[in-house]
Amino acid sequence: MSEPICILICQNRTCKKQGAAAVLAAARTMSPPEIAVEGCGCLGNCGNGPMVLVLPARIWYYRVRPQDLTTILTAT
Ligand code: FES
Repeated sequence: MSEPICILICQNRTCKKQGAAAVLAAARTMSPPEIAVEGCGCLGNCGNGPMVLVLPARIWYYRVRPQDLTTILTAT
């Protein structure tokens, strides 16, 4: 059985200034129920945000905008 997929979206200060709250809201709306979406603390890439990390594959996305989520979810 494969591990469940989780999309982590940094909600720490720098990413939040760069629009991370809107990315999290869009991801929660758009993701299918089998994919977990969670806000998280700093992912260590401040300044390149909003940062998104897809687990368990450990795929990173940077400077994510809400309109990028269709692409990310399709790839996921
Ligand atoms: S604040 Fe988002 S990666 Fe640090």
